[in-house]
Amino acid sequence: MTGLVVAMDGPSGSGKSSASRGVARALGLRYLDTGAMYRAVTWWMLQQGVDLGSPSAIAARAGEPVLEIGADPDAPSIAVGGVDVAGPIRSHEVTAAVSAVSAVPEVRSRLVAEQRAVIGAGDIVVEGRDIGTVVAPAAQVKIYLTASAEARAQRRTAELAGSTVEAQRTAMARRDTLDSTRKADPLAMAGDAVELDTTALNLDEVIAEVLRLVKETT
Ligand code: DC
Repeated sequence: MTGLVVAMDGPSGSGKSSASRGVARALGLRYLDTGAMYRAVTWWMLQQGVDLGSPSAIAARAGEPVLEIGADPDAPSIAVGGVDVAGPIRSHEVTAAVSAVSAVPEVRSRLVAEQRAVIGAGDIVVEGRDIGTVVAPAAQVKIYLTASAEARAQRRTAELAGSTVEAQRTAMARRDTLDSTRKADPLAMAGDAVELDTTALNLDEVIAEVLRLVKETT
């Protein structure tokens, strides 16, 4: 790896996506949303009627969906088998099912390999749950974004029409527990990551702080 890799990990609602895209734009880097890949595989499994209560049923089909993911921070794109799924992967149905699919080691190993292929020689900001720990442990900059449960639930509610803060808080707590207690590559902060609490920061402040850390480290 020769170019810069910025690993941005953390739970949902910590502000990872907007901050990662903003940082990539400011530095002229590519951008990879690894969560979108887990969501795309989940969308495909739901379409195929795979029993998501059965890890072995998920594992048996894990290699089938063909993903195409774009790395332009101004126009992130994702398709499965040639179908644009950028909208559908944000549906409630996919969000509720993605933790079960992403806990299956066969799904993770194939997506981690694809993520490493996209990262290639670097010059990229990569967001996810296990980037600093598993996907790109040699990343020069590792940031772990956090925010209070209240702030995270409020941000998600503002993004999604027709939801309440209370419902979001419950759904996010469930997903956090599943993501951080699974056996395969759980959500965790890398030992050499910098923790950034975004509770009291707006987007521009988060981006500025990450840019400062990048400058300091590189
Ligand atoms: O960041 P997101 O909410 O779009 O991620 C969706 C799910 O994908 C998340 O609940 C856990 C999983 N995920 C993962 O296991 N590893 C990653 N690197 C990224 C996401």
